[in-house]
Amino acid sequence: MKVIKEITLAAVLFALSVVAAAQCKIEGSGAARSLTLGGRPFIILGGELGNSTASSDEEVEAVFPKLKAMGLNTVLAPAYWDLMEPEEGRFDFHQVDKVISSARDNGLHVVFLWFGAWKNSMSCYAPEWFKTDVKRFPRARTRSGKTMEIASCVSPSVFNADAKAFEAFVEHIADAEKDGTVVMLQIENEIGMLESARDYSPESEKLFRSAVPAGLTSYLRKNKKSLHPDFAKLWADHGGKQSGTWDEMFGSDIFADEVFQAYQYALYVGRLADVARRHVSCPLYVNAAMNSRGRRPGQYPAAGPLAHLIDLWRAGAPSLDFISPDIYDSGFEGWVAKYAVCDNALFIPEMHRNEDNGAQAFYVIGRHNALGVSPFAIEYNAANCKLSKAYSTLAKLTPILASHPDRRGVLFTDKEQVSAWSEDGVNVEARHFFTLPWDQRATDGSKWPAAGAIVIRLAKNEYIVAGSGVVVTFTSDAEAEAKAKETQLMLGEDGFVLADQSGKAADKSKVDWSGVRRVGILSVDMVEPQEDGTLARVKRLNGDENHQGRHVRIGVDGFEILHVKLYEY
Ligand code: DGJ
Repeated sequence: MKVIKEITLAAVLFALSVVAAAQCKIEGSGAARSLTLGGRPFIILGGELGNSTASSDEEVEAVFPKLKAMGLNTVLAPAYWDLMEPEEGRFDFHQVDKVISSARDNGLHVVFLWFGAWKNSMSCYAPEWFKTDVKRFPRARTRSGKTMEIASCVSPSVFNADAKAFEAFVEHIADAEKDGTVVMLQIENEIGMLESARDYSPESEKLFRSAVPAGLTSYLRKNKKSLHPDFAKLWADHGGKQSGTWDEMFGSDIFADEVFQAYQYALYVGRLADVARRHVSCPLYVNAAMNSRGRRPGQYPAAGPLAHLIDLWRAGAPSLDFISPDIYDSGFEGWVAKYAVCDNALFIPEMHRNEDNGAQAFYVIGRHNALGVSPFAIEYNAANCKLSKAYSTLAKLTPILASHPDRRGVLFTDKEQVSAWSEDGVNVEARHFFTLPWDQRATDGSKWPAAGAIVIRLAKNEYIVAGSGVVVTFTSDAEAEAKAKETQLMLGEDGFVLADQSGKAADKSKVDWSGVRRVGILSVDMVEPQEDGTLARVKRLNGDENHQGRHVRIGVDGFEILHVKLYEY
């Protein structure tokens, strides 16, 4: 009997260790940060559902297999407070269970988005009993006293109602988190004040007139040297005081209002994050609508988890793992760069769904070690096979990425065509594939598709080039210098090609090449990385396919992983 008991106990302990091992975790720090799932490297190759799809069993059943077939490994799906708690205190988890079971059936993971007190600033997902009880659940107000459909985040009853439902939800999904189905949680959705940069309700006014809480002032003291530069400037511009009321420390304009409001939102979300932490250990994050197009706080959703407010969010919500941008505006590289600051892990829960998403994914994963990406309204994307190709290539590349956090990412368009760098004496120049005029679309006025690639230096003279739409050349530093001299000889002061009276070009033989070691291509293989990190050759690329040894390239229509070896001559 004792033996059976011991065996049972051992089995339980083993099961628990398997369960715990299935969880999603952020590993490492700084630029080397990455996700693991069940101890294995994991990149979220995701897509977010349109807002209402997950409320329909039929649509979930129809859509999830398509997402799997599209190459996604994760679906970002809302959990709707209004459907979950139709009467106060009575919970119905049918919608959440449907998402979890359909995800399991289709081998997908889930990031749940808590559509609680706020969704895109508004409180539209609050249950009807909440919406209609304005007295108990006060709304935020503008300076002129206008009530908005935005629950006031400083109201204890708003928080308690939201937190109670959120806790019931998180408790409910805890098992799915342990078996690795649920991999992350987003708390609320695109929080932010509209019309007004802060809440002018009486409760909020009272707080605004009081001293800045010690939680923030001590954060400022401790992190003075690493504050976001915009926030550091705002604080310094108002005297860099260590304490005082909000307007004493930060001024009395809309930017100061935004600082106050961001801290209030962060305190609220921080407490929700603490609630979640009692039941799950997966990463927790918040997302933001961007402060784009020259808009001012209140014209854009003010006080959300925006890059320039990261310190307020960190001070108020230390249990959050990171803040994330939703990118719908042009200037993708600029937006992601804003969020890859202050040691913030980069995850893009929403991005404008388009033909360039695959290239953008390669770029952010290569350049910023992004934890993952997720185009919005992914279920309307069935025809975008480019994204499928990108995702299946990234899935194959994941083990190599995990062991090479120090890598490069490039993103090219018709405007940004070239990127070059040098390491251990080798100049690497990556360009848009259409800088080669060979494809008719390069020159016939067609829109150039975005090209995106990851370049990994495996060892001296050994690289991985993976992605789409790039051509890469390798030269030695010495060779690059000699070539530059040749070019100089050929150009006049005005930068025009120099030719003598008879039309003969400048004499390149004036450049001394003796002793200049050059770099050549030893081999290029299209490969498929294996679980153990080895590279299985799919195809040798030579002759026309590497321009007789002059370059390495991947066309704009596909995604490939190339293993490149160089030599010196
Ligand atoms: C951003 C929001 O977070 C999404 O839920 C959705 O409303 C999109 N905007 C629509 O473009």
